[in-house]
Amino acid sequence: MKPIPIYEPQLSGRETANVLDCMNSGWISSRGKYVEMFEDGFCKFTNSKFATTVSNGTAALHLAFLALGIKEGDEVIVPTFTYIASINAIRYVGATPVFVDSEPQFWQADCEDITRKITPKTKAILAVHLYGHMTDMTAINSLAKTHNLYVIEDAAQAFGSYIKEAHAGTLSDIATFSFFANKTITTGEGGMVTTQCPKLDAKIRLLKNHHSSLTKKYWHDEIGYNYRMTNICAAIGVAQLEQAQSVLKKKATIAQIYHEALSNAPVTFQNTSHEMTHSQWMVSLILDEGYDRDTLIDYLSAVKIETRPTFYPAHTMPMYAFFVQNKHSYLVAEKLSRQGINLPSYPGLSSEDILHICSQIKRFFKAHPQ
Ligand SMILES: Cc1ncc(COP(=O)(O)O)c(C=O)c1O
Repeated sequence: MKPIPIYEPQLSGRETANVLDCMNSGWISSRGKYVEMFEDGFCKFTNSKFATTVSNGTAALHLAFLALGIKEGDEVIVPTFTYIASINAIRYVGATPVFVDSEPQFWQADCEDITRKITPKTKAILAVHLYGHMTDMTAINSLAKTHNLYVIEDAAQAFGSYIKEAHAGTLSDIATFSFFANKTITTGEGGMVTTQCPKLDAKIRLLKNHHSSLTKKYWHDEIGYNYRMTNICAAIGVAQLEQAQSVLKKKATIAQIYHEALSNAPVTFQNTSHEMTHSQWMVSLILDEGYDRDTLIDYLSAVKIETRPTFYPAHTMPMYAFFVQNKHSYLVAEKLSRQGINLPSYPGLSSEDILHICSQIKRFFKAHPQ
């Protein structure tokens, strides 16, 4: 059996032709037709009013906090169980991350814990949609309305995820996406900021381009950044959008095969709420207590199957331990982190590949009883 990586982008559409078009035309920096085409296509796909390309998902988050005026002294509520970029971006603007635990079914921020952690200093809730499932945005938006807070969606992992008919990124003040090579659609490195508010869109466009005056060349009335996406990256994104529906369909099938093949194994998959469409960015599960997750990862690695551990809770990292008070507990996040694993979930996986992975997982459980 050939090695099975955790992820492999599907670049079988017009990616190469579009990139060659950039090379041949000389439009290789952040100006050129593909940037606008990608933004328009993204708006159509997600049903967003505004979408702005940026250099990566972390820059997108930084811009979201800057555009909302979040600053030192403000508190931002965020799940501790997330990728570190969500938290780092809060610190880039000097604000304080206030960590909340996760709920055990869908692995998203626990809304009861959010309620407990709101203080007069709270300015925003960062809802991170993890592994392709979405946070309960109805509950988050209702809390935000009551307490007059901004809501930001970190939808880096949620392209193709929906609550009823609403695509991730359309249910907040500002939302951010990542197009790293392991994401459902990729531009190599890249990101997008979506919003439904024309003023916020205009602000983000200024900030990502050195806050350059629109009327006076080389005039800047505020500090800005160079967070622009290149035309080459956008050209890949345009081709990726053309294949997005078929990629999402394949990922749904992959998840179904995993769920059926491992139905009797001592594992629990990340569940899907009946109101939501899970994009299955990464098929994720936890091992029953008593089984060692890291031993399974090593076992699979020895037979050339790459998997990933789920994220470490941010509050356990040295630079963020300071923000945690003794009375806080993150038992669910800690369990999801200790026992969780992501399985290969890319569209090029065949059913035989998936069944092979599942049979190796079952062999592991036989060889390592509880
Ligand atoms: C939840 C989350 N937020 C933010 C990011 C950052 O995106 P990027 O790697 O494009 O900077 C990622 C990247 O994987 C992510 O998973």
